[in-house]
Amino acid sequence: MTEIKGRAAFVTGAGSGIGQGLAKALAAAGATVAVADILLDNAQAVAEEINTAGGKAVAIHCDVCERDSIKKAKAEANAALGPISLLFANAGVSNFDRLSEISDDTLDWILQVNFMGVAYCMQAFLPDMVAARDGHVMATASTAGLFPTWIPMHSTYAAAKLGIVGLMLNIGMELAECNIGSTVYCPGGVTAKMKANMMRNRPARFGGPGGVEVNSEASFKNITLTFLTPDEVAPMVLRAIRNNRPIVLDHSDQRALFQKTYVDLVMGAFDDVAAYEREHAKPK
Ligand SMILES: NC(=O)c1ccc[n+]([C@@H]2O[C@H](COP(=O)([O-])OP(=O)(O)OC[C@H]3O[C@@H](n4cnc5c(N)ncnc54)[C@H](O)[C@@H]3O)[C@@H](O)[C@H]2O)c1
Repeated sequence: MTEIKGRAAFVTGAGSGIGQGLAKALAAAGATVAVADILLDNAQAVAEEINTAGGKAVAIHCDVCERDSIKKAKAEANAALGPISLLFANAGVSNFDRLSEISDDTLDWILQVNFMGVAYCMQAFLPDMVAARDGHVMATASTAGLFPTWIPMHSTYAAAKLGIVGLMLNIGMELAECNIGSTVYCPGGVTAKMKANMMRNRPARFGGPGGVEVNSEASFKNITLTFLTPDEVAPMVLRAIRNNRPIVLDHSDQRALFQKTYVDLVMGAFDDVAAYEREHAKPK
């Protein structure tokens, strides 16, 4: 059981959407919060809301694509709040492109923010937690990563998010030895500002602000999505952290999708290899 009250938390992508929902829920649960985002003005507005409501938050600029930016942000958070024992590597950006048509900048940017951003944050924050043998790390993946065939024309995003699932489930084994919990969150439709933010938050080395149009219409034409609010999903995530769950989802109606994507797909592959072995001598 991971107690949230009294801890200091660092949340990336906390200036908007799911991240700001998590930051506010953490503060309401008694944690102090570093509200980190590449858009400092958004982070400041969220921190102000928390402080006005009686919590304690500090806004920090952080670009998760850059190790140095994360290190600087961590130092600022430590100076303001002390040791961080809850990390939420939540920042993410999305795209909808055929892989044959994607630009070099977009491919690099999507992988860098979504996957390397999580890995860099884990690298920066875990050593202190390991030394203290205490803490919990969470990363935001996506249903698009857990079920990679969910949304078409979303390959780089799905790949990055599936990478996060692999990273988090695997480090869970080494962290458990140090009394540190780990959770990967796979949102399945939450009202957020990804499309609006996209125009402003692309770092210069990936083409700069305004570089990417999000053309999601073709991808979503055969999908019915229901959307929860950040305030609705944040308590589900905190509950999972308190209970040290390795994975947290937010749409219980996606069970059938899981069956189709994983259980049927993987069982079908095992059936195939079993059929091969019946037809041929089983490989030694
Ligand atoms: N909203 C959904 O339905 C949904 C579904 C699946 C996964 N997700 C994931 O949830 C997470 C939060 O996204 P959201 O939906 O709240 O969108 P959002 O755009 O509202 O929030 C994302 C935040 O990340 C910040 N950000 C972008 N690039 C950054 C960078 N390089 N460094 C630091 N911060 C950066 C943005 O400024 C923004 O505040 C993302 O990882 C996203 O991929 C969301």
